Amino acid sequence: MSVLYKSCIKPLFFQLDPESAHELAVNLLKVLSNLPVVRDGMAWANQLSIEAEPVELFGLEFPNRVGLAAGFDKNAVCWRAFEALGFGHVEIGTVTFHEQPGNPKPRMFRYPEEETLLNRMGFNNQGAHAVAERLRKLDGPGERGIPLGINIGKSKVAPIDEAVADYLGSFDLLADLADYLVINVSSPNTPNLRQLQEGARLRELLGALQERNKERSERVGGAKLPILLKIAPDLTEGAIDDILQILFDFEYAGIIATNTTMARTGPFADINQAGGLSGKVVEEMSTNVVRYIAEKTEGKLPIIGVGGIDSPDTALRKLDAGASLVQIYSGMIYQGPFLGKKIARSLAKKAGDL
Ligand SMILES: Cc1cc2nc3c(=O)[nH]c(=O)nc-3n(C[C@H](O)[C@H](O)[C@H](O)COP(=O)(O)O)c2cc1C
Repeated sequence: MSVLYKSCIKPLFFQLDPESAHELAVNLLKVLSNLPVVRDGMAWANQLSIEAEPVELFGLEFPNRVGLAAGFDKNAVCWRAFEALGFGHVEIGTVTFHEQPGNPKPRMFRYPEEETLLNRMGFNNQGAHAVAERLRKLDGPGERGIPLGINIGKSKVAPIDEAVADYLGSFDLLADLADYLVINVSSPNTPNLRQLQEGARLRELLGALQERNKERSERVGGAKLPILLKIAPDLTEGAIDDILQILFDFEYAGIIATNTTMARTGPFADINQAGGLSGKVVEEMSTNVVRYIAEKTEGKLPIIGVGGIDSPDTALRKLDAGASLVQIYSGMIYQGPFLGKKIARSLAKKAGDL
């Protein structure tokens, strides 16, 4: 399958500019997503062939350890195709409360020799109302074959001092539709967003969201929705320590490490292009963040490891560093849509060693 992708499909896709190729891929996957018999048949056959032990984490059951990272299916239009392709979970978004167009194009770039991507999309998405409307028509939490995470971020029009109300607005619309929720404060492409990773602001934001989450669980009479925080790979150890303290204080379910990097190292030292880098260039950096968090928390905080995973070996490095699950995005652009299944199968074979 990956030979077919590399020899036939990828050369065609790579003729297109990266964002047009992405839109084409989403549209093709949307077709699969909306064909119930084919989709469910493929999902059944692929999940069966992976032969993984399900992973229990923050009250959810994941059929295998490999998920799709946020940013590919921002509007929840094609995510069910990834279950068919053998993925163990999908994270949609980032969704913002207000619909927004994102940054001017071009805003996505490939560096094929380095198997790296650069993006400054700027949370282009249809907004929480439209995404909620779409998800409400489908099977909900507990009825799906794989867990669905919803990643939420700050609307560009919301000033930083009104960020809490903006996130709460998205929470209110999307919480009932998510298996888990992710708070994204780590995109480099929304002005001032990463200020929310800093102490007092983060405490205020995460405290308010968990409070709303408790109120919701009392209202619906169930357990709290698992909420995770997604962080950047460019934080100092001191900044990570502060974040971990806040996550423990408010009983967050876990952490996603990491988003794209703003660092410009090696072949990227001199590129004059704004945005976050992902793929091979971020692999070691994000693995180091995973390892640091796992050691610092003595493994007590569930970690989803993401950044530069493009093979079973790179996935294993994240798991060995302390992640319980992994996610992929850039690796799939270079290796093809069956990368998730390939990694999940290989990890399942090695499961005895994990
Ligand atoms: C084009 C593109 C768009 C992305 N959009 C989002 C996003 O909306 N929200 C988010 O949390 N992460 C987003 N990401 C980051 C990925 O989820 C992931 O954290 C990062 O790319 C590192 O993983 P990778 O090396 O496997 O791509 C995006 C990444 C890319 C390449």
